[in-house]
Amino acid sequence: MAIKISGTGSALPKQSITNDDMARLVETSDEWIRQRTGIAQRRISAGETVAALAAKACGMALENAGVSAQEVDLILVATCSPELLLPCCACQVQGLLGAKRAVAFDLNAACSGFLFALNTAYAYIETGMYRNALIVGSEVLSKLVDWSDRSTCVLFGDGAGAAFVEKTNDNEVCSNGRHVGIESMVQGSDGTKGMVLSCKERTVSNPFAVSVPEEDEDISSYIKMDGQEVYKFATRQVPSCIQAALDQAGLCVEEIDLFVLHQANVRIIESVAKRLKADISKFPMNLERVGNMSSATIPVLLDELNRSGRLHRGDRIVLSGFGAGLTYGASVLVWG
Ligand code: ACO
Repeated sequence: MAIKISGTGSALPKQSITNDDMARLVETSDEWIRQRTGIAQRRISAGETVAALAAKACGMALENAGVSAQEVDLILVATCSPELLLPCCACQVQGLLGAKRAVAFDLNAACSGFLFALNTAYAYIETGMYRNALIVGSEVLSKLVDWSDRSTCVLFGDGAGAAFVEKTNDNEVCSNGRHVGIESMVQGSDGTKGMVLSCKERTVSNPFAVSVPEEDEDISSYIKMDGQEVYKFATRQVPSCIQAALDQAGLCVEEIDLFVLHQANVRIIESVAKRLKADISKFPMNLERVGNMSSATIPVLLDELNRSGRLHRGDRIVLSGFGAGLTYGASVLVWG
């Protein structure tokens, strides 16, 4: 069975915050941020919520696919910054869309979230349990950022990106002879290194608790990151994960038209391209304009590529995400 992405959508908060705006908040500069990260501005919520951004992106993806909300079987929201623990964001989105038939739930794999949602949808559709899925990465990280910590607050942005995924004909062949759909996928997690990128929720403190976990000063209720460890993890793990996905599909780097990577940092993306010996022009980037939106980066970039006409039927693309957990993954697919 072949499974393809047949529609994309994205939604960003209206408010754009430049590096100079950041320099008015913390001791930093446009030059430092651009040189170390490649980011020039980011969209920051002025009140837009994870659920509202997700629903807007999903609505666009459905329209792009030519499908109505009533036809959706499954809604998966990848997020690490929902407004509510209960109900989950996916149920909020289901309600906002009026997707009455859809089963809806969230998953959290941080910046790998969209890719993990794609793989989850793939598994459900492949087994025949559902025919299609709306998958969305949506984040309002500005809620989780310590706006006095210059080492993290300059990195992140808010936004949502969505894709409609469905079963396709086994024989949907493009004019270049390639079969439309997902060709391979690899994903992994390493919980032993999880604390290099962390953010605390509520801990055990009920009246019946026998032992209350000791407050760990290294865990904050804001995003805390060991940037250099994350950098090392990403530059080592992402190329090998992409290579594993290529090997699984029996492909080589030269057969890939575009590498759509999680947009954390230009230097990480350049290093991955170098290690794979791939041309950097095959790595589209938008983080200069929108910053790092965690689970939303891959689908927002995918939607921009789709709508700008840079993606063509028959293009073979690699999607790759990496982030807190630690989590990582890569997928090869032929655009249809
Ligand atoms: N402006 C000015 N100076 C800063 C800033 C800032 N925004 N942030 C940190 N500094 C200072 C530090 O205080 C330090 O000063 P000191 O030498 O006086 O102590 C100096 O710059 C160097 O700090 P480092 O943390 O060593 O800076 P580094 O060169 O490692 O760059 C960065 C930091 C950009 C985060 C880098 O580690 C990196 O690219 N890491 C990858 C992680 C990443 O991109 N994470 C994104 C989120 S996670 C994800 O999406 C997977």
